[in-house]
Amino acid sequence: MNKTVTYNNVQCDEAIAPDSKITTLEYLESQGLKVNYHCRDGTCGACRCQLNRGSVAYTTEPLAYIRDGEILTCCTTPTSDIDITCEF
Ligand code: FES
Repeated sequence: MNKTVTYNNVQCDEAIAPDSKITTLEYLESQGLKVNYHCRDGTCGACRCQLNRGSVAYTTEPLAYIRDGEILTCCTTPTSDIDITCEF
């Protein structure tokens, strides 16, 4: 089943295919969205976002500090429909 992404309260037009391994960050970039990032490997924390709904899987063990309810977009892939809020 395709996975939808809601980013800062707006649902993205394009869903993620069930077998896609795209990271959350790569997906947001593919949608032309403004996103924060730096290292792209889970070290710096610049891509930290609040996960309001849904679930993600980590593609690599993150080194950056994350609080409960937060995710790093650069090293996660959505495993369900997700709703995230990212601040700049
Ligand atoms: S871009 Fe550095 S932790 Fe994601």
